[in-house]
Amino acid sequence: MSKTSSLRCLITAGPTQEFIDPVRFISNPSTGKMGFALAEAALKQGWSVDLVSGPVNLQEPDGAILYPVVSAEDMYHQVDALFDVCDVCIMAAAVSDFTPIEYTEQKVKKDTAKRTIHLAKTIDILKTMGERKQSQFVVGFAAESENLEANAKLKLHSKNCDWVIANQIGEEGIGFGSDNNTITLFKKDDTQETHGPTSKLALAQTIIQAIADTLENTPSTEE
Ligand code: CTP
Repeated sequence: MSKTSSLRCLITAGPTQEFIDPVRFISNPSTGKMGFALAEAALKQGWSVDLVSGPVNLQEPDGAILYPVVSAEDMYHQVDALFDVCDVCIMAAAVSDFTPIEYTEQKVKKDTAKRTIHLAKTIDILKTMGERKQSQFVVGFAAESENLEANAKLKLHSKNCDWVIANQIGEEGIGFGSDNNTITLFKKDDTQETHGPTSKLALAQTIIQAIADTLENTPSTEE
């Protein structure tokens, strides 16, 4: 049996929702397709999958353990509970960077003359786990509208990832909500490779296979 045939993989997916009052929230257009495709590809690889997902309209792949969450804080607590036992962690979620400081228990009426919403930064889940990692292989995503390479490399180092997978947002037919994407993989050894445009499922299979190949060729500390 190869040493990567039965790994435990933790994946984050989808958006988070940060509620202002019972009917309004701050979020983003992520549909979770990339994270769910990664879960499917990891299961095909024979890995067990913990899938921590924000609110999406997708059926989890057969065999994945789904942990539904709503806010960035919920997602942090769930990842925090699962991270230490995973071998591979891939954070594909589009986590909201800001959350309202105050939550209003009752729906705010529209005749309120003027409304200011004060926001606080959410915890950076990827950075926190990157700093804590022992033997885990940690992969982050970078959604960029400009300076893709520079921003992705900055995230790779500042969040202590093994790889960052960057995608350009704002291009028609790829990215948020679409079935297709183009990605560039930035690695800690300063190499990079681009894949696509192709389906998110094909990209997910390429990513999972590439992780398996990398781990297969990494000498383990027990050897
Ligand atoms: N991420 C996270 N927790 C956050 C914000 C982001 O874990 N609070 C993770 C995402 O899941 C992704 C990576 O960090 O794997 C990069 O997310 P991205 O939105 O591209 O970048 P940010 O770190 O939010 O930085 P910026 O918005 O300034 O580009």
